[in-house]
Amino acid sequence: MSQIAKELLYTGKAKDVYKTDNDDEYIIKFRDDITALDGGKKDTLSKKGVYNALISTKLFEVLEAEGIKTQYIELLSPDEMLTMSLDMIPLEVICRNIATGSLVKKYPFPEKKELNPPIIQFDYKNDEYHDPMLNDSIILALDIVSQDALDEIRQITLKINRVLSDFLKSKGLLLVDFKLEYGFDKDGNIILGDEISPDTTRLWDVDTLENFDKDIFRKGEDGVVDAYRKVVDLILTDDEKDKWNVKDIE
Ligand code: C5P
Repeated sequence: MSQIAKELLYTGKAKDVYKTDNDDEYIIKFRDDITALDGGKKDTLSKKGVYNALISTKLFEVLEAEGIKTQYIELLSPDEMLTMSLDMIPLEVICRNIATGSLVKKYPFPEKKELNPPIIQFDYKNDEYHDPMLNDSIILALDIVSQDALDEIRQITLKINRVLSDFLKSKGLLLVDFKLEYGFDKDGNIILGDEISPDTTRLWDVDTLENFDKDIFRKGEDGVVDAYRKVVDLILTDDEKDKWNVKDIE
């Protein structure tokens, strides 16, 4: 564990958040734990945490370069990210470009139907209530955020979708859908937090539509970590791979 990490603030299903000496900064540690099906399916997969930290770092850097504010400050070690401290909003903001997953289970969309404009969906991040889907009225009635904040979250999410879809397509991957989490910084600005990794996105090969994400685990198939590694190999530059000794990670 890094020197500056202090007290454990929060343990999630796949990450731990630590306080640091500086109240404005946290350290997020990406663990090897993986869960699916509302926590009903669990495992620990060696190196998954490192791959998710490297992928999230790369994608946050791509977003920052396009002017999108994120919690990310720097990667301290291959699985520890220094971040801005945020007051997290309990929303799972899901954006979908292609119909699959829970969307085709719950609604009469044909599998793989292209969704243009993309669908944005808000789920309540609440284990006790099993992350139910919300609408604007429920979000306002529960006092989760204001209408203005919600509108801003929609706009930022659409921009993130455009930036990441273009970037990933240039690397041979289709951004099928993904989940984002936002928080407020100390000045009340809405900032992208959490992670963007194959745990929280669906990524398909642009040609074969083979998937390189947590769906492999959800389906109980082998090769989860190999798929995450493939995403690292596709999206990091050679210099980035050298910096983090990716070739020595096994
Ligand atoms: O399961 P579903 O089709 O609703 O998931 C949509 C997208 O949101 C997927 O990329 C999935 O990985 C992500 N997601 C997530 N965390 C959740 C629910 C969905 O990262 N709790």
